[in-house]
Amino acid sequence: MVEPIHLIPREQRQAVLAGAGYNLFQVPAGSVYIDLLTDSGTGAMSADQWAAMVTGDESYAGAKSFYMLQKTVAELFGFSHVLPTHQGRGAERVLCSSEVKKGDMIPSNAHFDTTRANLEWVGAVAIDLPTRCANDPSVDCTFKGNMDTERLADLLESHSGEIPFVMLTVTNNRAAGQPVSMGNLRKISEICREFKKPLYIDACRHAENAYFIKKRDPEYCDHSIPEIAREFFSYADGILMSAKKDGLCNIGGFLAVKDPALYRRLNESLIIMEGFTTYGGLAGRDLGAMALGLWEAVQEEYLAHRIGQVQFLGDELEARKIPVYRPVGGHAVYVDAAGFFKNENRNLPGQCLASSLYVEGGIRSCDLGSGMFADTSGGEAGLHLELLRLAIPRRTYTESHLRYVAEVFSVLRNNMDRIPYLRFSYRPKFLGHFTAQFEQTNSIGPSLVSTGAKPDKTNVH
Ligand code: F0G
Repeated sequence: MVEPIHLIPREQRQAVLAGAGYNLFQVPAGSVYIDLLTDSGTGAMSADQWAAMVTGDESYAGAKSFYMLQKTVAELFGFSHVLPTHQGRGAERVLCSSEVKKGDMIPSNAHFDTTRANLEWVGAVAIDLPTRCANDPSVDCTFKGNMDTERLADLLESHSGEIPFVMLTVTNNRAAGQPVSMGNLRKISEICREFKKPLYIDACRHAENAYFIKKRDPEYCDHSIPEIAREFFSYADGILMSAKKDGLCNIGGFLAVKDPALYRRLNESLIIMEGFTTYGGLAGRDLGAMALGLWEAVQEEYLAHRIGQVQFLGDELEARKIPVYRPVGGHAVYVDAAGFFKNENRNLPGQCLASSLYVEGGIRSCDLGSGMFADTSGGEAGLHLELLRLAIPRRTYTESHLRYVAEVFSVLRNNMDRIPYLRFSYRPKFLGHFTAQFEQTNSIGPSLVSTGAKPDKTNVH
């Protein structure tokens, strides 16, 4: 399908943004030209997936679409017990309500927003233990998504009783979509076994992670992506999946585990919170589309194009001297917002940049810094990054759309004095970035220079 896109006039964009309290989540999609807010559920499904939607089995119990999903999860990930959920945070909620209690501590390479919120909602403490180089946007390490295993071992040594399980997020969305190496995972799993703690993988971008392993770890250069995935998940006790990412779906997710007793406990929570065992929070047609999408996402040709497209945007930005987090990650280019404003001491740099990117070019992006995470410090060991994320929907935009984005950045860089200063006017306790409101502490100049650049008039859905 082809969806027309439309650039509304600049004055209208300014009015829309002010009306939305400078929060891009509050801007209607029809007022957005290029939408890089998220790669979650925003991609295009394939003809085969649409066909599976049409033949979806809507039986309440035991639908054949569920068995398709179950077979895929067993073959691709090696887990026989699958609990479908409406999306990733549904899986998080089911897991947290059953396996986490107040006062618990959950270590991870870095928890993303909904995972952190689900843990905090039940009174647990979400602890980020990123590898040390993750805090430096300019250093080119191969696996900056890794967990700091020394700190993990120390934490388990000192607080084993409060830690019900360990989590690993691949790729590491909080740390610029950086991959986790097989070696790091092996070490984490060894530590977890030593302390008898289950290991859960938040697998929503696992195919992109596997592609990086193939390209960056010589030991895996001759392995297929499904082979890498199969080994990767053999080290885990459970996985949480948002199929809106590497399931290539518009909606869907699941929780899968190996232990039958754990499965029974989780199933009780699932039935209360999401739906019956064989559909979770989904229609049969969504289960079918997910079963196929999971396979399509591990095709190497697709991944080469996908990762190549993200790299293309990164290169275009760097060619225009925009500081980007290096190396470029899997699903998004993360602009180093603190580096962009390196000559100023600016609050909420990512949010300021996101606002002006919208006003200047109709481009929607997302702050991944102090606007999104209430505590950017994440403790001494955590992440201290101020980033702006340009997430690329899968199978949607073309090179010309991405070049336009880079050109708008050039305009911003040449008109730094026009970028607004913002502060919070309302900040909710959980997942604040979705509903927070901001106000300007100065005024935007009358008009920025027009880029003159225009991308294709459509994006493909
Ligand atoms: N885990 C990670 C690493 C995620 O990036 C997300 C969602 C989730 C869990 C939750 O999945 O949205 O299906 O409930 N991330 C989106 C994003 C929203 O924009 O990065 P969900």
